[in-house]
Amino acid sequence: MRLPLIAGNRKMNTTVREAVALVSEMRLELDAIANVDKVICPPFISLAAVGELIKGSSIKLGAQNLYFAEKGAYTGEISPLMLADLCQFVIIGHSERRQYFNETGEIINKKAQAALRVGLKPILCIGESLKENEAGKTAEVVTEQMRSSLARVNELDGLVIAYEPVWAIGTGRAATGQQANETIGLIRHNITKLYDKEIAQDLRILYGGSVTAANATEFISQPEIDGALVGGASLKAEEFLSIVKQTSAIRTHLSEES
Ligand code: 13P
Repeated sequence: MRLPLIAGNRKMNTTVREAVALVSEMRLELDAIANVDKVICPPFISLAAVGELIKGSSIKLGAQNLYFAEKGAYTGEISPLMLADLCQFVIIGHSERRQYFNETGEIINKKAQAALRVGLKPILCIGESLKENEAGKTAEVVTEQMRSSLARVNELDGLVIAYEPVWAIGTGRAATGQQANETIGLIRHNITKLYDKEIAQDLRILYGGSVTAANATEFISQPEIDGALVGGASLKAEEFLSIVKQTSAIRTHLSEES
């Protein structure tokens, strides 16, 4: 059985002081929740401080981006080696990076390879736009994004995929559990084709896009969905804790049944 994962993508929110305060508010409770991988992804400049705060706990840390070169004259960029010291996960290919920073499949692929090379687990984001969704192109778009981002990636090594339909991000208009489950099933099927059945069965695939405490159970209880990549709701301790607790309860229930 795959261990569910809830990751909080704080995006470009919180100063260092605020990031630390937010984690302090939920650290003890979050640490105690079993049967869920809990990952916090604050902005780069807060990684060290948040890392200190959660040291020795079950809470894990993720970055929101990285550059693919190991070091050198790339003013303003952060390398995989710098992150490998600080965190376990890194978000790659988020639609906001594709949209505002012109990241292509090729760049995302280089980033995925660079992360894996240093032992970081990429949380690879894929998802279709509203226009593509309305044109019935979801499967086509998601399949192409997987093909380009995973080119030459031979071992997934803990990589996680997050299915984030662009039209559901920050809009309050989440997909339905059934819609998300269907697309995530397709993503898993693609992994079987690109790799093999065992790798596909072990891969964790998350849903992201307007996940809140009010709708989390609808997603987490779907058989193909292994957790959530949470944006806005990760900025409120109570909301985030509730999403993690709901996930833990569902997983604990499933383990007892099997
Ligand atoms: P929201 O949860 O704010 O819709 O953001 C989702 C997201 O983009 C997480 O990466």
